[in-house]
Amino acid sequence: MVVSDLAIDVRGLRKSYGAVEAVRGIDFAVARGEVFGLLGPNGAGKTSTVEILEGYRQRSGGDVTVLGKDPARRERDLRARMGIVLQSSGIYRHLSVRETLTHWARIYPAPREVEEVIALAGLESKAAERTRRLSGGQLRRLDFALALIGDPELIFLDEPTTGFDPAARRAAWETVRALRGLGKTILLTTHYLDEAEALADRVAIIKDGRILVEGRPDELGGEGTTGRYRVSYVERGETVARETDDPTALLNELTSAALARGERLERLRVTQPSLEDVYLELTADEQVGDADADRDQAVVGG
Ligand SMILES: Nc1ncnc2c1ncn2[C@@H]1O[C@H](COP(=O)(O)OP(=O)(O)O)[C@@H](O)[C@H]1O
Ligand SMILES: [Mg+2]
Repeated sequence: MVVSDLAIDVRGLRKSYGAVEAVRGIDFAVARGEVFGLLGPNGAGKTSTVEILEGYRQRSGGDVTVLGKDPARRERDLRARMGIVLQSSGIYRHLSVRETLTHWARIYPAPREVEEVIALAGLESKAAERTRRLSGGQLRRLDFALALIGDPELIFLDEPTTGFDPAARRAAWETVRALRGLGKTILLTTHYLDEAEALADRVAIIKDGRILVEGRPDELGGEGTTGRYRVSYVERGETVARETDDPTALLNELTSAALARGERLERLRVTQPSLEDVYLELTADEQVGDADADRDQAVVGG
């Protein structure tokens, strides 16, 4: 990829807070026009990463380039090219939606049309409403509108739908898709698997400050990343499951043995892990009990 095609380039990024290593050497790159999702549980290091890219936090190590610049320098013109969802901090309660956007439009060198931004955020019916009378979901739309008003090239959305009801969530997804349609580059973080799947062109799964796997959502679960297959069948009421990267040979072995015994393999199935399986497996804390899996392994091994 040519350097200028990249909106974000992160190499060996590290961030420590005292003894806490929040980000432990991560690499990723986001192309212009791409929606990139950092997917991971709470405490994974998502916000630390995003705030370093935004120029709000200093990194402890590594190299970071955002729109060709180092955000740690906090250059004003870089700020103007980035859109940051402010979580309602830039909102004056006595102003209307339209007045708020008009006010903030003035600080940017080349703002978008206020009416267009109102439409993009789905706030047409609330344009003249004072912001203190907006619902939570409508305020969140106004946050999006504020992120857009400067007509940024790159937009950061840190957990954009956490705490939303399903309708507000859908609306936020539509807004993200509209932004993508405008050719904007978007870095979003989420701990919702379905959100990453629905919105992101590429996803990196992050946990404990490390990226565990990265790829297109439709590839992450399948052969593309894992190359793993699960062959399962039921024997005397118990599910027997085996994992393999070569299901042809394994099926041949299992079915030949069964035929030689004059048996059938009941409910024989070959499956690949879904993105959900991969995510749950990667982000699961070491738990006492994946008892079923343990039992399956024991049956196979024994
Ligand atoms: N200002 C801070 N001071 C100390 N520890 C912090 C600070 N901010 C975040 N952390 C810690 O860094 C880790 C990553 O946090 P964060 O980047 O907020 O993750 P995420 O956004 O994925 O939930 C967590 O263990 C968190 O407690
Ligand atoms: Mg966070």
